[in-house]
Amino acid sequence: MPRRALAAEPLPIEFPLEASEFQTPAGNRGGLLFGYNGQVPGPILETRAGDTVRIRFRNSLPEDTNLHFHGLHVPPTGNADNALLMVPAGESFDYEWTLPADHPAGLNWIHPHMHGTTARQVARGLAMPLIVRGPLDEEPAIQSATEHMLVLQDFDLNAAGLPLEPGMMERNLGREGPLVTVNGRLRPALSIRPGGWARLRLINASPSRFYRLSVEEHTLLQVATDGGSLAAPREVDELLLLPGERADLMVRGSRPGGSYALRNLPYDRGGGMGMFPSAGLPFTLATLDYEGDAVEAPALSERLASIDPLPEPARSRTFVLGGGMGGMMGGGMAFTINGRTFNPNRVDTRVRLGDVEEWTFINAMAMDHPMHIHTNPFQVIGRGGEPEAAWRDIVLVPRNGSARIRTQFRDYAGKLVYHCHILDHEDLGMMGILEIV
Ligand code: C2O
Ligand code: CU
Ligand code: CU
Repeated sequence: MPRRALAAEPLPIEFPLEASEFQTPAGNRGGLLFGYNGQVPGPILETRAGDTVRIRFRNSLPEDTNLHFHGLHVPPTGNADNALLMVPAGESFDYEWTLPADHPAGLNWIHPHMHGTTARQVARGLAMPLIVRGPLDEEPAIQSATEHMLVLQDFDLNAAGLPLEPGMMERNLGREGPLVTVNGRLRPALSIRPGGWARLRLINASPSRFYRLSVEEHTLLQVATDGGSLAAPREVDELLLLPGERADLMVRGSRPGGSYALRNLPYDRGGGMGMFPSAGLPFTLATLDYEGDAVEAPALSERLASIDPLPEPARSRTFVLGGGMGGMMGGGMAFTINGRTFNPNRVDTRVRLGDVEEWTFINAMAMDHPMHIHTNPFQVIGRGGEPEAAWRDIVLVPRNGSARIRTQFRDYAGKLVYHCHILDHEDLGMMGILEIV
């Protein structure tokens, strides 16, 4: 009998998760919100490449829901990252998936994906971080950093703490709430050691709000996008974070001690003629507070990862957003892709497993649409026609403009979705089914 190596496989991670409605603090008040395991945002799930995760999910909400593992490269079918299945109110479902051995390290998140009520459920608080640990976490400066998770959520609550439902006009624009929280709190203090590094791990878990972030008197070094590590750190003064998007920023404690604001700057995403709250005044989201003894932190490596550009595509496709019947005219906006709204029983795009394709999104509307594709990350094609050395799963398609991406349909056949991550737009139909065969 051949001898078998023992304990070569890591044990599966068993994670009980319950969605329910409860009274909880939200910013400076209390709210009747939806959360995972009694928290808003939900707890952090931490994994590594190769892990098998079993989530014993219980839906204790008064309505149907499901889970989407935004950013993971796992099967879109069966009991894995299947955004097309539904867990009825009061029922349970066991999700299970295995991260491939070469899954990139990075920051992902879990949120519901019920067509028609996704925006509402996310706006009530359903969101939780899902970290994949890996090589990026072992880079010396990153390893030395004080790590802060920042889940950005906005709420619209009445005086009694009950969530308000937006009217049709606000849904067309994409709902924004005036109460903006970081990890459910108002202006939390984040610590940084003098001379040391802070690593800010950001998730935009708001249904529609765009964030434009900067830290007073500090430069930001972006080290990761949605798809994990950048090839090299990128110095930025500010960072635009689209709905659903994630980013890792490194900040060095190189200023005299004190407290510095992480600010949100106004951003005009069109459509509302400046009427979105996010187009209003800048405000402080959190503070970076110098604390503890000075340290001598290692310098950040100039090379973080190697990212190979995807090869020339086998095929190119064009997706026109909006502008179909009605367009912006006649009072009704059409949230269409190539003239059609979402139909779960129709395959909109059929592709071959393993193929590389180039997709161009053309925005025929006067407002921005952040487009997202499940399961496989992509590389954004720059002005010069070259793919960016970064993996992403959300791309900004500016109003009356376009964006082009290149992707490869790797490992998994099946049906999945692509959609606008302004979740009201997704609910209104700006979503299509992709079948990989
Ligand atoms: Cu976070 Cu289908 O989306
Ligand atoms: Cu997703
Ligand atoms: Cu949109």
